[in-house]
Order: sequence, then C-alpha cells, then structure tokens
Amino acid sequence: KPINLDVIPVIDSTNQYLLERLNTLSTGFACVAEYQQAGRGRRGRQWFSPFASNLYLSMYWRLEQGPAAAMGLSLAIGIVIAQVLREISGQDIKVKWPNDLYLNDKKLAGILVEIAGKTGDVAHIVIGMGINLRMHNPNQDIVNQAWSNLGDIDRNLLVAKLLYRLRDALYCFETEGLSAFIKQWQPLDNFADRPVKLIIGETEIKGIAKGINEQGALLLEQNGILKAYIGGEISLRAD
Ligand code: ATP
Ligand code: BTN
Repeated sequence: KPINLDVIPVIDSTNQYLLERLNTLSTGFACVAEYQQAGRGRRGRQWFSPFASNLYLSMYWRLEQGPAAAMGLSLAIGIVIAQVLREISGQDIKVKWPNDLYLNDKKLAGILVEIAGKTGDVAHIVIGMGINLRMHNPNQDIVNQAWSNLGDIDRNLLVAKLLYRLRDALYCFETEGLSAFIKQWQPLDNFADRPVKLIIGETEIKGIAKGINEQGALLLEQNGILKAYIGGEISLRAD
C-alpha cells in the first residue's frame, strides 16, 4: 500500500494536525512541517521547532491492541528511529527511556505518542517525532537541557526511510508487541549500566539503569535488587 504524506509549510503542531482529522485518515497517514508554532513535548512542555532546520513528522495509526499498548509502542518506535538515524548518518545514536534519542549524551530527538478517540478496544494513535538536524541558537527558555544535531543530511531520504520502517515496525508491533523489539533495546540504551536518578514529582530515586522489561518498564538496580518503574510522570537523568 502507498504511504500518504501531507507536506505543510507552517502548522501549530503536526500531532495536532492529525488529531483534528482522525476520522478522515487511514492507518499510516503522515505529515511533515517546516515550522511548528506550537510544537509540544510530554506533559505540556514545548518543543522548539524553528523553520526548516529540523524534522517534524507525525504518523497516524489505528492500534488494534487498544490504548494500554501505547507505552511499549513508543519504545519500539524509539528503537526503529535510532536504527534509521544510524544507517543514514553513521553516528552512534542512542535511546533514552521512555521517549528520547540521544547523540553524544545530549538530546537529539523526542517522540510524543498521543492517543485519542478510543472506541471499544481500538485506539487511535498519533506518533510524533522531532529530530534536530541543523538547529542553531535555540530559545533557552524552551530548550533547557543539553541537545545535539544530527547534521546536514538529506531530509527527503530521511522521511522516506522513516515512513517505511515505521510502518513495518507498527505492523510487527500489532502482532508481536514489544517482545519483538526488546532485544534491540540494550545495545542502543544510552544509560545501560550507568548510575542514574529518576525524578518522580518531588522524589528522586537513584540506582543503576538496567534496560527495560516486556511491559516497557524501566529497570533500576538499587542495592543489588532490580525494581521496575513505569508511568508517564517519571524523568530519567544521569546521576
Ligand atoms: P523527560 O521526558 O524524561 O522528562 P525531557 O526533559 O526531555 O525528558 P520532554 O517532555 O520529553 O522532557 O521533552 C521536552 C523538553 O525537551 C523541553 O522541556 C526542553 O527542555 C527540551 N526540548 C525542547 N525542544 C527541543 C529541541 N528542539 N531539541 C532538544 N530538546 C528540546
Ligand atoms: C518530547 O521529547 O517530549 C517529545 C517531543 C516531540 C516533538 C514532535 S515534533 C513533531 C510532533 N508534533 C508535536 O507537536 N510534537 C511532536
């Protein structure tokens, strides 16, 4: 089946664009924009989206497993994007639980999975990704942590590869779930076996990062005991 792609010069948010058109979209429909006036990250945070310097891409997927599968889905998506970016750039791209890509220990890209219009067991999912390519002088009020650029690569090739590989991965995820991807997480994990802290509201938990489990939870070793952490309110940082 062909992939449908809308190419938009200026938009509030490519995720929002698809969410507003859910009932007209077929699975796999995607859009890219040159500029986002209201690019967003997790928990109401902003995603800095300057004109023409980066990639802002979203894809719609009708997920038969329902909304509960979305957590594992965003991890699987992260693995696939990391692999595509490695192939295209030859650089040592890493994943960070739950939804970021890192290059040289700095944030290269973010993934935002949004769920809408749940009907029965089916979830309508929009998968958005922002990938920094050649960003300069970002607004420091918005980008308040270390970030990196992929460099000057062919955006057309990048979009084409991403769309086909994401589609294949999503079909695979529908039948096999996260378990089909889990072995690929460890070698890509930016924090594997490193001391980290989890920030959960006002609480900080320290330990050694030990990858993920089949549910998509983050595994943390604390005093020799392995504990699993899951949930959208957790931020992972180097310690
Ligand atoms: P966590 O999800 O673990 O809390 P996070 O701090 O990266 O990680 P997110 O909500 O995932 O939070 O991402 C939004 C954050 O990303 C913003 O608060 C900002 O610091 C940073 N950010 C915004 N735009 C960009 C960009 N173009 N490149 C890199 N980082 C960005
Ligand atoms: C994050 O790190 O919190 C996720 C950032 C996701 C940004 C992308 S850019 C394309 C899509 N449209 C949005 O408004 N957000 C995502």
